[in-house]
Amino acid sequence: MDAPLVKTEVRGRVALLTLNRPKALNALSNDVIGELAAAMRVFDADENIGAMVLTGSEKAFAAGADIGAMQGWSYMDVYKQDYLGGDWESLKRIRKPIIAAVAGYALGGGCELAMQCDFIIAAENARFGQPEIKLGVIPGYGGTQRLPRAVSKAKAMDMVLTARMMDAQEAERAGLVSRVVPAERLLDEALEAAAIIASMSLPSVIMAKECVNMAYEGSLNDTVMFERRNFHALFSTEDQKEGMAAFVEKRKPEFKHK
Ligand code: HXC
Repeated sequence: MDAPLVKTEVRGRVALLTLNRPKALNALSNDVIGELAAAMRVFDADENIGAMVLTGSEKAFAAGADIGAMQGWSYMDVYKQDYLGGDWESLKRIRKPIIAAVAGYALGGGCELAMQCDFIIAAENARFGQPEIKLGVIPGYGGTQRLPRAVSKAKAMDMVLTARMMDAQEAERAGLVSRVVPAERLLDEALEAAAIIASMSLPSVIMAKECVNMAYEGSLNDTVMFERRNFHALFSTEDQKEGMAAFVEKRKPEFKHK
């Protein structure tokens, strides 16, 4: 049997979910997200679980959506499957709190997945970025909307337009992460925080999460859809083909600006 793409473990009232595609730096394929969504739905419905922790490996939380899979897709391919809807979108309907425990790279869809969680605890070696522009596309899973809300327009523009990464210290100063801890403490810190949450009254926890999201998200549903459709539209450009082919072939892209 193939190894699971997402490993799960229960510790008391906390569920730990670990992305498990280490050779591809946990690149997020539809299958990875499918397994993640299925596991989270089960824990969400389980009355013995009060909170979840989502983590990756020491080197990468997740280095983004799976570029090899996306490389050949056309605009119609992404539009018709509503890429980043479905299981991807369903993660925001999980009612119990999810803490992202991030070590190493959280890039592109990986950074967006971490931001989709309720808060982020980072290891000192964590690096956050939205490098999609280098592939001839843009963030498509909420990055253009959640990043400016988290770190200010200035830093979000800087990261989205230049593809510059933020280290853990800058991410904490900017408000993207709630705590930075030594790498060896990451999982314990996240599990302890989740255990505290899971010890609280579950209805009040769920309502608190819903209320904070209401303050934060406002019109986010509409704007995330606007972003997703623009992301889809970029699959009609030659530069998306070139940008993703260049990554897969390990060379610099030559953009034609069309
Ligand atoms: C598919 C990926 C991948 C990705 C890494 N790999 N990122 N495969 N999709 N996003 C694979 C590599 O091809 C390589 O496979 C293996 O993982 C190890 O990666 P290396 O590049 O050899 O490692 P390193 O030199 O340490 O560089 C690490 C890195 C680099 C800086 C993180 O891998 C990188 O730049 N990755 C892409 C980051 C990115 O552009 N993310 C945004 C994706 S677009 P092999 O087989 O050669 O060993 C996106 C769209 C968002 O996320 C839309 C919504 C989700």
